[in-house]
Parts: sequence; structure tokens; C-alpha cells
Amino acid sequence: MTETINIDLQSSKADKYKALLPQIQALTTGETDLIANLANTVAALKQGLNFFWVGFYVVKGNELVLAPFQGTVACVRIPFSRGVCGTSYRTAKTLIVPDVEQFEGHIACSSASRSEIVVPVIKNGQVVAVLDVDSTELNDFDLTDQQYLEELAEWVSQWF
Ligand code: SME
Repeated sequence: MTETINIDLQSSKADKYKALLPQIQALTTGETDLIANLANTVAALKQGLNFFWVGFYVVKGNELVLAPFQGTVACVRIPFSRGVCGTSYRTAKTLIVPDVEQFEGHIACSSASRSEIVVPVIKNGQVVAVLDVDSTELNDFDLTDQQYLEELAEWVSQWF
């Protein structure tokens, strides 16, 4: 297994994802511990794509609870009824929010965050977690992020 992440930071976003996803798969293959794998996944995403904030919220009881992340300290518990994360949970769909101030019910963990993407992790038809990525730039996420982060979420679902 590889212990370093090698990504050319000059390459396009799609190329970065294409290089990074197999490295995350290699890094987590053969390991079944959920926390360890989520932790290395977000570390690799932070390092490879230089996200401002990237982390998981996992379903516990009737709310989403903060799990491994990279970035500034964040809200710990998110009710299913609230935020971009709660909406992604309820709809079982990816949400791209180009301007968080325009999203009713957005939960501001950091005032620096201006756009975000939230991708559900689905296991046997149930959302078991969400992957949340935040940017300090407006309109920073697109269908390229959605495509590759959904592919990643499918990989992640095996650990639940
Ligand atoms: N903004 C998210 C909450 C999580 S933090 O941004 C890390 C939301 O509205 O669900």
C-alpha cells in the first residue's frame, strides 16, 4: 500500500480526481476499520485537491454526527431536517450549492465557507453518511466534482 499521495497540483481537476481515487482505494484496501479509512480518505482529499474543508457526517440515531474531517472545527450534530447535509440525507442525492447564503437552512460552521457540495454515502439503499466539501470561493463545485465524489462515496459505502 502507498503511504504518500502523489498528485500534480497543476493538472486539471478531473485529472487530479483520476489520479487520486485509485490512491485512496489502494490506501484503504485490506483495512476494514471505518474511522481509519474515513480519516485517510479525507486526508488524501485535502492533500490532493486542497479543499478548504472536507469531512464526513455519519448517521447516528436521528441525526448526522461529525466524523473524520480536515479543516477548521465544525458543527458536531446536524438534524436530518437541517442544512445542506440534512437535505442530502433526506433526498439521498448530491447537492451542489454555488452560494451558501442563498440556500435556506444552510448551517454555517465557518463564515469563510461560500460554496459546497454534499454527497450521500448509500449502503443497501440507505444513506449511512454524507461527504461534505466546502470552499471559500463562490461556485467552486461542478459536475466533475459530483461524478468523482459519487464514485468515491460508492467505494466508501463498503466500510459501513
Ligand atoms: N454547511 C453544512 C454543515 C456542515 S459544515 O459546513 C462543515 C450544512 O449546511 O449542512
